[in-house]
Amino acid sequence: MNEKHIMTVEDAYLAHVYQKFPVTIIRGRGAIVYDVNGKKYIDCMSGYGVSLVGHCHPKIVEAIERQAETLITCHGSFYNDKRAELLEKLVKIAPKGLDKVFLCNSGAESVECALKIAVKYTGRSKIISMIRGFHGKTLGALSATWNPKYKKSFASLIPKNFIFVPFGNLERAEKAIDDETAAVIVEPIQGEGGIHVPPPDYLKGLREICDRHGAVLIFDEVQTGFGRTGRMWALEHWNVSPDIMCIAKAMGGGLPIGATIAEAEIMNSLKVGEHSSTFGGNPLACAAASATIDIVLEENLPERACRLGGYFKGLLEEMVEKFRVLREARGLGLMLGLESRISIYEVLMRTLSEGLLLLYSGRNVIRFLPPLVIEKGHLEIAADILSRIFAEEDERVTYTSRKP
Ligand SMILES: Cc1ncc(COP(=O)(O)O)c(C=O)c1O
Repeated sequence: MNEKHIMTVEDAYLAHVYQKFPVTIIRGRGAIVYDVNGKKYIDCMSGYGVSLVGHCHPKIVEAIERQAETLITCHGSFYNDKRAELLEKLVKIAPKGLDKVFLCNSGAESVECALKIAVKYTGRSKIISMIRGFHGKTLGALSATWNPKYKKSFASLIPKNFIFVPFGNLERAEKAIDDETAAVIVEPIQGEGGIHVPPPDYLKGLREICDRHGAVLIFDEVQTGFGRTGRMWALEHWNVSPDIMCIAKAMGGGLPIGATIAEAEIMNSLKVGEHSSTFGGNPLACAAASATIDIVLEENLPERACRLGGYFKGLLEEMVEKFRVLREARGLGLMLGLESRISIYEVLMRTLSEGLLLLYSGRNVIRFLPPLVIEKGHLEIAADILSRIFAEEDERVTYTSRKP
């Protein structure tokens, strides 16, 4: 199929819910992807954080191939060797005390489950969520997601018991959390909302307030998990454990899988039939996730994210010093944001034409979520491309503002 035909078909038949980039990607390896015309791109977005171990990692390919020949599907009502293998590995790397897992297929599903557990366990219904927080777009997850743009057409389906407080503000959290609160749900570092790292005592403070009121603390590590921020879990930066953790995205090395992990006592409040998923925990996705955990550990990817992320953030900070159109570089590990004073849509279209895939967070923040296996040289090329573009933007803005 040529590119024109592919685009025509997708535009005609696929629901128009994605802001499309005008590129047709058909192949990838490591941190590099290729379009249908053979053009090469440095991938600094990983499909919104999915291909953390790189595209088509040989161990993921091998695990999928081997499992595909053995058994692809096996409902959770039967036992399965690959599922058991994954569960053992997952619980071993999970934060202390979290040792009971529900397997699902996406980030939003992992959040749905977390909310249900919290409500069932506490017998309460009030949920505290964060301004600028993002947890997915299915109805429960959407209710906990802040951005009004995602919700306004569905107000009639969104319950009123979701209360939003400013991320990073303990005083406001203290006022909102009470003895009727079932759960507080928070991303340890906000991703979609623009890469916001909380103040040092924030998550510990939330933990303490939740404990005082008997509310469940949910960390959404869907984007931050598996080494992305320079630690296996972002929560390790602050040494705080939640009662429930949500994970997905990178977990399956590219295959759809997610999980809700909780303390046994809390998870056990869900009884047989109160939650399930036909595909959740299928052997194919479990084999890929099991291989993903091996790769993250064997290749020491959290440490690599820390090292390369620190270096790349330094390059971004130099740009912020140099170019007036830039405001701030922020984030941890290889989860970084570059805030600009101008709309970055045109910038992203230009980087695309120069062979660099980047993400946005809102109108003016560039989000970097590269595979953790990316080479230092690739990050340097990314920084060079951006420097050139922002130098021109600086000149253009200065020239325009000087014009009589
Ligand atoms: C923190 C967080 N939670 C949940 C989700 C939803 O994940 P999914 O798109 O797999 O449903 C996302 C997706 O971007 C996310 O970043």
